[in-house]
Amino acid sequence: MRVLIVGCGYVGLPLGAELVKRGHAVFGLRRTAEGAEELQAAGLTPLVGDVTRPETLRALPGPFDWVVNTVSSSKGGAEVYRAVYVDGTRHLIEWLTATPPRKFVHTSSTSVYAQTDGSEVTETSSAQPTTDTSQLLVEAEDLLRKAAREEGFPAVVLRVAGIYGPERGFLFQQFLREEARLSGDGSRLLNMIHRDDVVSAIIAALERGKPGRTYNVTDNEPVSQRAFFEWLTDKLHKPMPPSADESGATRRKRAVTNKRVSNRRLREELAWTPSYPTFREGYAEDVRRNA
Ligand SMILES: NC(=O)c1ccc[n+]([C@@H]2O[C@H](COP(=O)([O-])OP(=O)(O)OC[C@H]3O[C@@H](n4cnc5c(N)ncnc54)[C@H](OP(=O)(O)O)[C@@H]3O)[C@@H](O)[C@H]2O)c1
Repeated sequence: MRVLIVGCGYVGLPLGAELVKRGHAVFGLRRTAEGAEELQAAGLTPLVGDVTRPETLRALPGPFDWVVNTVSSSKGGAEVYRAVYVDGTRHLIEWLTATPPRKFVHTSSTSVYAQTDGSEVTETSSAQPTTDTSQLLVEAEDLLRKAAREEGFPAVVLRVAGIYGPERGFLFQQFLREEARLSGDGSRLLNMIHRDDVVSAIIAALERGKPGRTYNVTDNEPVSQRAFFEWLTDKLHKPMPPSADESGATRRKRAVTNKRVSNRRLREELAWTPSYPTFREGYAEDVRRNA
């Protein structure tokens, strides 16, 4: 297959490397030629383009059999979210309408679920986020589901949980620096996924995902903040992080959710199995290195 990875960063690059290993011809898109050697070293053909500038997409060497969208907001605010996710997705759909791929996989986020009661959340649960950034993620998803429904555009949406892995893992890094804080009593649930398992989920979606369908991508075990830190405390012999009571205003701003995201659909429909079923396997290597 000729594969285009739009946004070739923390997830996109190892995804590309894995697809190259499997014999595909893989192209990786970024906004600049910076880091092109990194892509070439992994066997990808580097391309320069910007989803916010549709003319740059039209100049790409298509057609492609598979397209994966793993661009991110690069930590930007609502304006960047709108440009990258909503406008960017619209530009990709419009550009690909002339020569549609066999499959288009889009990475969204489990932040679209605003539940705060610790309940189980599946793909049919309400996705009505309270922050404007997550609302824009839903808007982008809706464009893809509409294109799938009305135009047969072969889009699959993945809602990805908090990604950790080599050099990533915000709470873990904070814990190592002894700067982590428990929010309230620490009962809030964390939904996490190892980067390598995001890669395998994207490949499962490319190979077997149903157009128009949405899948959660998270590991098998949501864990409370407290249980996560207790495990790290035990393994790394560092103090348990103190509690920080957050004001209502802070909680609303950060949209602190509390939910148990289910990966059942991904496992059952796409026969996906995580290599790191829980944070314990996923962090084992980091723990060994830091013990
Ligand atoms: N990190 C998480 O915990 C998390 C959780 C849920 C979902 N996700 C989603 O997972 C996906 C992958 O995340 P990631 O961590 O791999 O992101 P990342 O490391 O920030 O990589 C994003 C890539 O997109 C490129 N890019 C940014 N803006 C672009 C644009 N306008 N046009 C073309 N390319 C652009 C960046 O390269 P240049 O800057 O060089 O252009 C970079 O290569 C994203 O959709 C993200 O929203 C992430």
